[in-house]
Amino acid sequence: MSGTTPRPPIVPTDAAGIAAGACALREGALVAMPTETVYGLAGDATNATAVARIFSAKGRPSFNPLIVHVADIAAAERIGVFDAQALKLAQAFWPGPLTVVLRRRAQSGIAELATAGLDTVALRVPSHATARALIAAAERPLAAPSANKSGRLSPTTAADVAADFGPEVALILDGGAAQHGLESTVVEVSLGNLVLLRPGAVTVEAIAELIGRPPLRAEHAPVRPSAPGQFLSHYAPDAAVRLDIHEVRPGEALLAFGPTPPYAGGPVFNLSPTGDLVEAAAQLFAGMRELDKKLRASGGVGPRTIAVMTIPEHGLGAAINDRLRRAAAPR
Ligand code: TXA
Ligand code: MG
Repeated sequence: MSGTTPRPPIVPTDAAGIAAGACALREGALVAMPTETVYGLAGDATNATAVARIFSAKGRPSFNPLIVHVADIAAAERIGVFDAQALKLAQAFWPGPLTVVLRRRAQSGIAELATAGLDTVALRVPSHATARALIAAAERPLAAPSANKSGRLSPTTAADVAADFGPEVALILDGGAAQHGLESTVVEVSLGNLVLLRPGAVTVEAIAELIGRPPLRAEHAPVRPSAPGQFLSHYAPDAAVRLDIHEVRPGEALLAFGPTPPYAGGPVFNLSPTGDLVEAAAQLFAGMRELDKKLRASGGVGPRTIAVMTIPEHGLGAAINDRLRRAAAPR
């Protein structure tokens, strides 16, 4: 960024600052908030466009699932399915720097982009007073990765955040230096297992003391990420995917982009008729699911295929294409 880029305003965490932040969040804008771990780049987790803006602002080349921040256990239970072990962890460590990954409820209201199409969701109740006040005032769950550009260090002060962003962030709430300076510990609770996905501010020893045994390492877990940022269970359509198409073959569905899609005899979903990559990212998972469903319902013989128009590789296009290429890879 050049020295003349306008930086987001840094505002105090008083009532006026919280109200301004909540107002921005409700409008789908992004707010950097202090938490006890690191500063987070928060957006309305129920608004797919807001979530797409988070990925766009961070410049991530792929859609990683984000942590959803909520006010309390009751709010978390409306989004994820808690078993006895998950509840025990939440009661012991919330509010605080532990994130639990749980099966996501069908009616969770969380945008699919926030979980990158996974049927699980990462939840955390932060302890920082400002983060709590912001969640309460916004009256919605907040998706918030660390507030840094992709590949840069996690920010522990408002000035760190300001150094990385411009007008794509509405404001930065200045809550002073983050207490831990290290991200939350991420554990997945499923099938009775407890799996450590990311070491962090809550120690493995503290978890072991509570549960009676240490969490499994991710490489020993039955279901696990195949590599950092890649998940075996990421949503991929049932249908085959054909990329960079110029014409649609009989029986195919069309995932379109832009104002001039080619003729299609079957189902069409346009990710963004105006060619807006943020809108396209917001619609991506919903679009793949809808076309999959329509192809299944049409009950035709032979292989089902989604034909996908070319998506430009700049901005969020890189992350969209990353997801589409995985969906198109042989399975
Ligand atoms: O301390 C923190 O947790 C900070 C502050 C802002 O709260 N947030 C943060 O978020 O570090 P993020 O998005 O940078 O980290 C998300 C982590 C990643 O390691 C991701 O792979 C994992 O959580 N994760 C999120 N959803 C998941 C899911 N459904 N399954 C498995 N892992 C998931
Ligand atoms: Mg990070």
